[in-house]
Amino acid sequence: MVLESVSRIIKVQLPAYLKRLPLPETIGGFARLTVSEWLRLLPLLGILALLGYLTIRPFLPKRKKQRDSLINLKIQKENPKVVNEIDIEDLNSANVCYCRCWRSKTFPVCDKSHLKHNELTGDNVGPLILKKKIL
Ligand code: FES
Repeated sequence: MVLESVSRIIKVQLPAYLKRLPLPETIGGFARLTVSEWLRLLPLLGILALLGYLTIRPFLPKRKKQRDSLINLKIQKENPKVVNEIDIEDLNSANVCYCRCWRSKTFPVCDKSHLKHNELTGDNVGPLILKKKIL
């Protein structure tokens, strides 16, 4: 019964549907189609687009796992948000470098770990340097 229905769809209804479609003889004929003719073509075009996508999908680049997009890999992971406050008036030396790569072992102060990170990844991150004006 089911196979009979599938057979009827493939052998009778599908060819009749395709015969009724307003497919132009040339590429330029698509430009002359009316809106209603385009609407009649939409289901077929949708199916063809879906089949095309399913065909090329195995060859598309895979999405990176969410873990790869983490910036902070190990600093204060127990906190929902890492926040550091420093009063500028308390700066003792003329220059202080703060880490922006999240790889410093002395975070939030830069320990130059960004150099290794940049070399390994091709990234270009560096510290925030606060300079104290000496009057
Ligand atoms: S160690 Fe992170 S910016 Fe220098």
